[in-house]
Amino acid sequence: MSNHEHHEDTGNKPVKRSGLSRRQFLSYTLGGAGAFMAAGMSLPMIRFAVDPILKKKVGGTWIKVVEENKITNDPQEFKFNIHQVDGWYVSDPELSAWISKDNSGNYFALSPVCKHLGCTISWSSDIYICPCHNAHYTKDGENLTVAPKPLDEYDLKIDNGWVYLGPIKANTRV
Ligand code: FES
Repeated sequence: MSNHEHHEDTGNKPVKRSGLSRRQFLSYTLGGAGAFMAAGMSLPMIRFAVDPILKKKVGGTWIKVVEENKITNDPQEFKFNIHQVDGWYVSDPELSAWISKDNSGNYFALSPVCKHLGCTISWSSDIYICPCHNAHYTKDGENLTVAPKPLDEYDLKIDNGWVYLGPIKANTRV
């Protein structure tokens, strides 16, 4: 037996194939399918993340609160809910307003939040009183004791026999 290697020359030239090899075809196909599936899975997540920012807020800021004929000269407390959309957080907190008529028959609504430290005031005979540190306010919301500022006021409009309240603003009556 000879220990030298024996090479056979078949005389065949290496075969050159044009186009894709099997390996390239598989990697393109699998890569494309993977990218398609990844896009399909990530699009809903992107939409969820971006949607609340792009969405237009619908609806006005006026809230229908009470029938006009229920309003008296003495302030009464009325509760109502507002619909809030803050990015991804949606809520319907309950608010309240003290609504009354002035001597000229004009309606106005005051916020119940004491301007001292934020407790809730209430009407007592002829004055608003805060139970926390005894702040007093007039019917127009003017601060008499303790609190540094008048009670805030709601924007108010009458439409078709109903009182609508808008955003809270600084008191315009005192
Ligand atoms: S919070 Fe109303 S008096 Fe202090």
